[in-house]
Amino acid sequence: MGERFYVTTPIYYPSDRLHIGHAYTTTVADSLARWHKFLGKDVFFLTGSDEHGQKIQRTAAERGLTPKAYVDDVVASFKELWQALNVQYDDFIRTSDERHHRAVQEVFQRIYDNGDIYKSQYEGLYCVPCETFWVESKLVEGNCPDCGRPVELVQEESYFFRMGKYADRLLQHIEDHPEFIQPETRRKEMVNFIKGGLDDLCVTRTTFDWGIPVPIAENHVIYVWFDALTNYLTAAGFPDDRQRLDKWWPADVHLVGKEIMRFHTIIWPIILMALGEKLPKTVFGHGWLLFDSDKMSKSKGNVVDPHALIAELGEDPIRYFLLREISFGQDGNFTKKALVERTNSDLANDLGNLLHRTLSMLGKYHGGAIPAPGAEETIDRELKTLAEETCQRTVELIDDLKINDALAQIWRLVGRANKYVDECAPWSLAKEESTQERLNTVMYNLFEVQRITALLVKSFIPRTGERIWEQLGIEQTLANTQFSDTAWGGLRPGTQTQKGDPIFPRIEWAEEEPDAAPEPDKAPKAAAKESAAVAPKEEEDAGIVGIEDFAKLNLVVAEVIAAESVKKADKLLKLQVDIGDEQRQIVAGIAQHYTPDQLLGRRIVIVKNLKPVKLRGELSQGMLLAATSSDGTLELVTVSDAIAPGSGVK
Ligand code: ME8
Ligand code: MG
Repeated sequence: MGERFYVTTPIYYPSDRLHIGHAYTTTVADSLARWHKFLGKDVFFLTGSDEHGQKIQRTAAERGLTPKAYVDDVVASFKELWQALNVQYDDFIRTSDERHHRAVQEVFQRIYDNGDIYKSQYEGLYCVPCETFWVESKLVEGNCPDCGRPVELVQEESYFFRMGKYADRLLQHIEDHPEFIQPETRRKEMVNFIKGGLDDLCVTRTTFDWGIPVPIAENHVIYVWFDALTNYLTAAGFPDDRQRLDKWWPADVHLVGKEIMRFHTIIWPIILMALGEKLPKTVFGHGWLLFDSDKMSKSKGNVVDPHALIAELGEDPIRYFLLREISFGQDGNFTKKALVERTNSDLANDLGNLLHRTLSMLGKYHGGAIPAPGAEETIDRELKTLAEETCQRTVELIDDLKINDALAQIWRLVGRANKYVDECAPWSLAKEESTQERLNTVMYNLFEVQRITALLVKSFIPRTGERIWEQLGIEQTLANTQFSDTAWGGLRPGTQTQKGDPIFPRIEWAEEEPDAAPEPDKAPKAAAKESAAVAPKEEEDAGIVGIEDFAKLNLVVAEVIAAESVKKADKLLKLQVDIGDEQRQIVAGIAQHYTPDQLLGRRIVIVKNLKPVKLRGELSQGMLLAATSSDGTLELVTVSDAIAPGSGVK
């Protein structure tokens, strides 16, 4: 049996729809699962729903539904979200599953039989939203210290779990296994908490019935956290399938938010000790996604809805942002502005543009087929070495759960490849017969780096990996690749690439920012000025210029690869154009003459070396040529498909 890897997310409460905070943990888990599969391991990725308890029973009642009918509906929305986010879990456990009932009752029974559960009377405080018992001294201004909401007085007959008995053993385990609680700051917090003394834990409730019945007493249901934590064992085969359990247990990593570390690093290990099962290898408590420096949470109503964001941008920008922007372990702000900026800089510019511009060049120089490389120069060796180091570093960083650092590392390689294009200047090499072999080497290396990049990113942004792979035209399915395929030289000369649309068109956002919103009366003027600039009227002053003045203008053929209108500017269209060795955005005042569709695929003429300007917050990198007749009819200057994008115009 090869190596195996078992990763979990918390099982979320179906007390409401999920938000971007839940998407965060689950994206990390999915990425780790995919990565470890890529490393050749046998992987088990578990997520699910935590359906019992007072909170859910009350929420359902407020809606006039039975708890089961209510949770069925919400759980369906969980699964839809995971699908939309391209999350491929191996098992989805619901605590209402029959298999789980049996497992939880068995855990309870065994611990009871061992003498670690006893009956007594509970009198104390309870936070329903957190499903947590509190003693008066821990409250903050009379409220729950975790969520700040009011607590309720609870008085009932209960069964108690002798947690205190295991405190020393747990402290010893934490000391012997520094990797058990991560990151380190959380370990210190937990150690202090345990040293402060562990009370026995109330593990049954009698004042409501939406829970798993206690096997040894009528009218008691098992405390929802005792029930929920056990999910990690149930899904691994407990109690019936010992062989399966031995294969998967202990879990390699439980990913959780920092607010539920106490449950996962104190209560859960003690349950396992009382049962005689091994402890999970690592519990990682990540930080919170904040919104305006406040924790995003369902009850605060300040949540970002991932459904809407995915519908607008696709899942990969969101996955990438969550993984790259937030230092794993620390809190991080979530703003749409930062999401758009990350996407534009890292995905559209660095990654997407590299692919698009190199494919354009390869199309022009080599009919789109990957050439065989020739002799290697220093700069090539450097690129190759960096690629090899990047693969190795990525393995190490992901092993240490430093996911954002791993992505930063991969993007250093992408950045290096972009610089390599500029330094090697394939367009100059293409001009001379004598530099054809050098051109082949440069083009091969560029595509080999991109093949390796696709392999490295596919666990994190799976669809993007696929799209790069598709355009590279590689026959082997990406899904069947393994880490060993990242070895340099895997790209087969002769592979016919398949240039497609840019994988990440730039996202336009500035318009919606409050402080960037244009003043209404300024907008038409800017637009009018621009239309005059792109469609120049015959100059009154027909001054004669010499050829050297004309030669200062760099006019080239550009293919329109995307076109769209500009919000709140009815004269402007925004075009993405391919000029052979790069892609540019041009904003032009032609919306009253052309629809975006009419422009797609047209080969127009642009002034390439015009100073870029911002029009209505949009960058325009060049100017297109158009002819205007005296009745106002406007037509773009175009050429046929016989002339490749990037060709000079004189
Ligand atoms: O606690 N930032 O479920 P839950 C980052 N059912 N992560 C966040 C987040 C935020 N703002 N908000 C939520 C429960 N999360 C229990 C778990 S496990 C045996 C039982 C993520 O629906 C993060 O992983 O309140 C957090 O721990 C979890 O959602 C809480 O989900
Ligand atoms: Mg919560």
